[in-house]
Amino acid sequence: MTTKLILGKDVSEEIYAELRQRIDALKVKGTVPGLAVILVGDDPASQVYVRKKGEMCESLGMRSVTVRMPAETTQDELMAKVAELNADPSIHGFLVQLPLPKHLDEKQVINAISPSKDVDCFHPENVGRMLIGEPTFLPATPAGVQQMLVRSGVETGGKHVVVVGRSNIVGKPMAAMMVQKGAGADSTVTVVHSRTKGLADIIRQADILVVAIGKPRFVTADMVKEGAVVIDVGTNRVDDPSRPSGSRLVGDVDFDAVKDKASAITPVPGGVGPMTICMLMANAVKAAEDACGRGPQ
Ligand code: GUN
Repeated sequence: MTTKLILGKDVSEEIYAELRQRIDALKVKGTVPGLAVILVGDDPASQVYVRKKGEMCESLGMRSVTVRMPAETTQDELMAKVAELNADPSIHGFLVQLPLPKHLDEKQVINAISPSKDVDCFHPENVGRMLIGEPTFLPATPAGVQQMLVRSGVETGGKHVVVVGRSNIVGKPMAAMMVQKGAGADSTVTVVHSRTKGLADIIRQADILVVAIGKPRFVTADMVKEGAVVIDVGTNRVDDPSRPSGSRLVGDVDFDAVKDKASAITPVPGGVGPMTICMLMANAVKAAEDACGRGPQ
């Protein structure tokens, strides 16, 4: 059996081509989609993510605004910036890059973002809307996984999806999306996590396995059913003395061992990774389309 590699670069390029058309259509109507990112402090990983988001925005012809605030920013200053972006009609969507410095209250900040501009889908109102299947933004990483399945022709209806990990950003919303009625969903979903008993036996029942538990090579070949579709959301940096950098990225799945059992699998890097920014861009375009449809406020 040949194993199909599902590559985020290929899937995201398909989606970017569609987004470019939607952005052009918005521009014809006089709207340039605007996405802002608030970055507080100087966390190195966050700096890289924020730069990549800005570059992608601009390469698509959207307006990108990066708001850099010092690590000593107070809660009031950050809340004032959120209020300012909520009120700015040229900014259709924005996010506050996490994690925030420890003295800041993340929940209060997320709750203050206007749900109509919450392109991360972190606001409780949007999380609730997603759960009950009402139109809303979808959280970027699980939405990216779903697009990889759909656009690779993986049938999900009636299939057993096992989600490994229960984070608010990936595991929980992934399960909520796959159990929903409709195309690319209609699955039977099981969520397993670090406290699950008989975890390997449950994982072995998966037709589609989505792994986001944050442990390098956690899923081994003996846990995977022959012919399963394996989506690896993990990105873990491990020591590798053979590399000049001394380290490399591996997923939550033991790729080399699992790839021969899977019918399709995502590598790390190059798998799910590129999808997250892509789906954020899709949410920003949707935010601009929604605002355009509502007309001037
Ligand atoms: N930090 C790591 N991932 C994310 C994300 O998707 N959104 C935000 N706001 N911060 C993050």
